[in-house]
Amino acid sequence: MIGEREHWTTRVGFILAAAGSAVGLGNIWRFPYVTGVNGGAAFIVIYLIAIIIIGYPMMVTEMTLGKKTQKNPVGAFKAMAPNTPWWLVGALGVFTGFVILSYYSVVAGWSLAYIFRAIAGFAPGMDFAELFYTTIGVDIGEGPNIITPIIWHLVFMALTVGIIAGGVVRGIQRWVKILMPVLLILLLILVVRAVTLPGSGAGLAFYLSPDFSAVTGQTFLDAIAQSFFTLSLGMGAIITYGSYLGKDSTIGDNGGWVVGLDTGIAIIAGFAIFPAVFALGLEPGAGPGLTFITLPAVFAELPAGSFFGFLFFLLLSIAALTSAISLLEVVVAWLVDEKNWTRAKASVLMGLVIFLVGIPTSLGYNVFGDFSFLGMDVLDTYDWFANALFLPIGGLLTAIFVGYVWQAKRAQEFANDPPGKIPIGDWYGVLIRYVVPAAIIIVLIFGLIDTFAG
Ligand code: PHE
Repeated sequence: MIGEREHWTTRVGFILAAAGSAVGLGNIWRFPYVTGVNGGAAFIVIYLIAIIIIGYPMMVTEMTLGKKTQKNPVGAFKAMAPNTPWWLVGALGVFTGFVILSYYSVVAGWSLAYIFRAIAGFAPGMDFAELFYTTIGVDIGEGPNIITPIIWHLVFMALTVGIIAGGVVRGIQRWVKILMPVLLILLLILVVRAVTLPGSGAGLAFYLSPDFSAVTGQTFLDAIAQSFFTLSLGMGAIITYGSYLGKDSTIGDNGGWVVGLDTGIAIIAGFAIFPAVFALGLEPGAGPGLTFITLPAVFAELPAGSFFGFLFFLLLSIAALTSAISLLEVVVAWLVDEKNWTRAKASVLMGLVIFLVGIPTSLGYNVFGDFSFLGMDVLDTYDWFANALFLPIGGLLTAIFVGYVWQAKRAQEFANDPPGKIPIGDWYGVLIRYVVPAAIIIVLIFGLIDTFAG
C-alpha cells in the first residue's frame, strides 16, 4: 500500500466533487434535448419521480458502500463479500467508466472547440449545421477533417489527467471548489439573459405546462435512464468518491445535496435554453444538435451573443470536466488500491488508453462514417451500451447486493451513523429491495425490445 487513503478535508469539498460528477453533459446537453424530444414539462414530472424513488436511494446506497469499505468499486465488493464473484459488479463499473469517458471526452472536446468558435464569432446568417459538421469532422466538400476533433479530445483528456494526477484533495477537491461556483454563476447569467428575451414566454410555457399526450412508455424509459446517467450511478463513481468520506460524514444529507444540486442545475439549464430557443422561433426537439446547432443560431441573433455563446460553452466544458475526472478516478482508484500502481502512473497511462479508445468515436463522422450498429453511429453505439446495458445492470446488481446480501437494514443503520437532518428510514429498504430493482428490470427489458424490435 502506498501511504494512507486520502479524505475530503471539508464536507463542502465532497458535496462539490460529487455534484461535479453528477452535473455534466447529461444536465446541460442531454437533459434539455431529451426534454425537448419528449414534449417538455410532462417529461420533467416523470423524471422528478424517477429521481426521488430511484436516484436518491441509489445515491445513498453507493455513498454508503464507499464510506463503509473505503475502497474502489472492485475492492468495495471484495471487502463486503470476500471470495464471491460479487467483485465482478465493481469490475463492470470500472470498465463502464472507461467506456463512458472515451466518448464523453470526444463530445467535451467539441464543447472546447466551440469556446473558440464563439470567440471567433457567431453571426446571423452563418450556416450552423455546417459549422458543427466541420467541428466534428464531417466532409463538407473540402475533405474530412480528421485532426481537429482528435486534438480537442486529446486536450480534454489531458486536462482530466492533470487534475486526477494531483490526487483527491490537491487535485479533485481543489479544482471543484473553483469550477463549481464558476459553473453556477455562468448558468445564472445565462438564465437571466434567456428569460428576459422578448418572446421567451412561449419557451416557458413549453417547459412548464405538461402535455401528457406526449407521454409514452419510452418517456418512462428515458426518464429512468437519464436519472442514472445524470447522477453518475450504476458504475461506481459515487462508491469511489464515497470511499474518501470520513467517519463523521452524514450520508442522507450529503446524498440530498448532491441529488438536489444535480436536479436543480438540470432544470435551471432548461430555463437558460428553452426560452431562448422559442424567442427566436426555433424548434426545441432537434435532439443532440440542440446544443451545437440550435443554440449557436440563437446566440448569433442576440446582442453580444458571441459573448454569451462563449460563456455557455465554457459552462458546458466545465460541467464536462468535473464529471470526466470522476470517471477517470474510478479507473485510477482501482489501479492504486488493487494493483498498487502510483496515482501518477495510473492517471497518465489510463488517460492515454482512454484517449485511444475514444478515437473511433472521434472518427465516427469521417473514417468510420459508414459504421452502423442497429442504425447507430459510433458515439451512439458506445452511449447505448453504457446507458441501455452497463449502467442499469451495474445499478441493478448493486441494489440487489446491498438490499439482500449486505441487507438493506444494515446499510440503513450504517448510513444513519452519524444521524443527519435527512434520516434514512425504513422506506429505504422498500425502495432498494423492490422498487429500484423492478424499475431497472423493466427499463432493461423494454429498452432491449425497443432497440432490437423497434
Ligand atoms: N453524470 C454525468 C453527466 O451527467 C455523467 C457521468 C456518468 C459521470 C457516470 C460519471 C459517471 O454528464
